[in-house]
Amino acid sequence: MALVTTKEMFKKAYEGGYSIGAFNINDMEIIQGVVNGAKAQNSPVILQVSSSAIKFAGAKYLVKMVEAAVEETGLDIALHLDHGASIDVCKEVIEAGFTSVMFDGSHYDYEENVRLTKEVVDYAHARGVVVEAELGQLAGVEDEVSVEKGVYTDPAQAEDFVKRTGVDSLAIAIGTSHGAFKFTGEAKLRFDILEDIQKRLPGFPIVLHGASAVDQKYVEMCNEYGGQIDGAKGVPADMLRKASSMAVCKINMDTDLRLAMTATLRKFFAENPKEIDPRKYMGAARTAIQELVEDKIKNVLGSSNAL
Ligand code: G3H
Ligand code: 13P
Ligand code: ZN
Repeated sequence: MALVTTKEMFKKAYEGGYSIGAFNINDMEIIQGVVNGAKAQNSPVILQVSSSAIKFAGAKYLVKMVEAAVEETGLDIALHLDHGASIDVCKEVIEAGFTSVMFDGSHYDYEENVRLTKEVVDYAHARGVVVEAELGQLAGVEDEVSVEKGVYTDPAQAEDFVKRTGVDSLAIAIGTSHGAFKFTGEAKLRFDILEDIQKRLPGFPIVLHGASAVDQKYVEMCNEYGGQIDGAKGVPADMLRKASSMAVCKINMDTDLRLAMTATLRKFFAENPKEIDPRKYMGAARTAIQELVEDKIKNVLGSSNAL
């Protein structure tokens, strides 16, 4: 068993009207929580790593732990670079064993994004690695960039971009954003843009970033045990289901894992003031992540038993 790319996963997901969950990983407990959830649901999964996660844990540790997860579970797992900001970081992780990279050129002007993405695609494809790119801008904070107001993806530009770069999947901006505060009023996504892109690029996999649902159960748990995240709001699950039934094949979630982990730890420490064994509290956090991932796979992504 080895790590796989997302090629086959996306083909089946597109045809089956479901999505593959892409969960951000930073340490062993998160990796185990995610893959245990995927295993229990017999679902393929994408483990994605940001540049800050690499700074925190080290690429080698992350690759080895994810390889161990493949051996332990026998699942189809892709290891993906999230929001790669430069050609160099894409090359580095490809050398380290990643099977998929995102080159995020969304902050460059259009022609520069095309040129740089194409360079990453040529390099990656020659090594059997797939590439995700981004067009349009999500509001909120990304790894090293902060955007005040999102810019929706232009469908005609998306069509031109995919044809010229040969990229394997495309992240689009239709109203989602990173973090725990996505909407001040009512949640709204531009499904008309997604539909137009799907018509122009039939069969082509689309990616949705900033797709955490920000489960109110965990927001309330955080706040009850000393947190201060009033007003946190995410993307409603029914909208994510709808996107999954269309061209969206990959749904990115990080905030939901952070919330589940933080809420569980806060509750644990409040209820067990004498406990000092990290295996107890990190174990509880790992279980919470597993439960969250199982729920996502069953009720949001629709990828249960897709293996
Ligand atoms: O899109 C951003 C992800 O949530 C990763 O966040 O750079 O803090 O690891 P991070
Ligand atoms: P969330 O902040 O909604 O979890 O989005 C994560 C993401 O898009 C990672 O690339
Ligand atoms: Zn993202």
